[in-house]
Amino acid sequence: MKVLVVGGGGREHAVIRKLRENRDITGIYALPGNGGIAEDAECVPIAAADIPGITAFAVEKGIDYAVVTPDDPLVLGCVDALEEKGIACFGPRANAAIIEGSKVFSKNLMKKYGIPTARYETFEDLDAALAYLEAAPLPTVIKADGLALGKGVIIAGTREEARAAVTDMMQNGRFGKSGERIVIEEFLEGPEVSVLAFTDGKTIKPMVSSMDHKRAGDHDTGLNTGGMGTIAPNPFFTPEIAARCMEEIFLPTVAAMNAEGRVFKGCLYFGLMLTADGPKVIEYNCRFGDPETQVVLPLLESDLFTVMRAVTEERLAETEVRFREKNACCVILASKGYPESYQKGYPLTIPESVREQVYVAGARLQDGKLVTAGGRVAGCTAVGDTLAEAISAAYRIAAQVKFENAYCRRDIGARALQAAQEV
Ligand code: AMP
Ligand code: GLY
Repeated sequence: MKVLVVGGGGREHAVIRKLRENRDITGIYALPGNGGIAEDAECVPIAAADIPGITAFAVEKGIDYAVVTPDDPLVLGCVDALEEKGIACFGPRANAAIIEGSKVFSKNLMKKYGIPTARYETFEDLDAALAYLEAAPLPTVIKADGLALGKGVIIAGTREEARAAVTDMMQNGRFGKSGERIVIEEFLEGPEVSVLAFTDGKTIKPMVSSMDHKRAGDHDTGLNTGGMGTIAPNPFFTPEIAARCMEEIFLPTVAAMNAEGRVFKGCLYFGLMLTADGPKVIEYNCRFGDPETQVVLPLLESDLFTVMRAVTEERLAETEVRFREKNACCVILASKGYPESYQKGYPLTIPESVREQVYVAGARLQDGKLVTAGGRVAGCTAVGDTLAEAISAAYRIAAQVKFENAYCRRDIGARALQAAQEV
């Protein structure tokens, strides 16, 4: 079978490596892929949001199955367009991808169906939002409604910051159309957990839990990034909490989407916060997380392609989704200056001995050699019997991957390790 994967980051590299384990797959195309993915798939320079381009390519190549992983093509209807051409897909249709594409939609969904989340108000009018802020408890959380490259959330500690954030979004067009409507919500506290789950709209099977590290600097300082590293499983996500989330969040979300006539099929991502009041949803994503996927898929014992097809064909209930009882850690090597400005075009070397453990994100091929091409360059990933082993092995790999101006956080997994020792 010929498989197409839409996207070109570390997450897609992890997906492609895992898909390669399936012997029915004869060819994998990555659109657009990247310089590192080119070792594992045929990369074709068609952008992930170019839906007519993707569809035309899929038809021309006789693609049997498409995996759509990034948020924008999903929200723009890439799966709908491919399905119209008779191509089976992994990923939700646009009417279900809205669970990530609109925060106003997802907050209203949670309110309507009693799914625990932060208290909130939505605004389309600047003056109304500013008036509300006069008495809002601080800190307060301001979110652009639409997709904003992971940057659409501002946690404002003072009224002044809150007013500036709201004005920036609603009046100055900071996130374009995505910020015309906003959500202002209650600030929650507690450990964060990411749970990716396979669902075919009838059954939901959560994958092993994980923890992202979003801030650029050690000990959660500095700016928010796309994610500087992950560990799995997340020690805060105990079996008791997992059972509670299944009853209060996972199953109700699938049922709510069905009741709205928006059947969600694919990978549903729950960004959770374990508050003193119980687990609450911080956000939904309509896709695999990045860099969560880089630690979750190496622990998946079952065959990924088999599970994906079971989701498409609504056979998930009878399909085994099993994880190894091990730990994984992914340390992201980024270009110095990320997430703000940084230099690109430096030679990137990945020794052959660690190649299979490095998922390449921001790199391209120049005269047959890898050079850096993005903020997050490579995800160095290790699996170990214990979390401590996985963390030190991931850092040993990171030390061998070289490019100028590389930096990584030195404390990926430290908080989890402390928690694991306390449990
Ligand atoms: P998001 O872009 O929705 O993933 O949000 C980015 C980060 O902002 C989350 O991972 C949380 O750390 C933080 N965040 C979002 N909403 C809240 C909230 N209501 N209370 C506290 N932190 C939040
Ligand atoms: N790691 C968070 C995300 O994929 O949005």
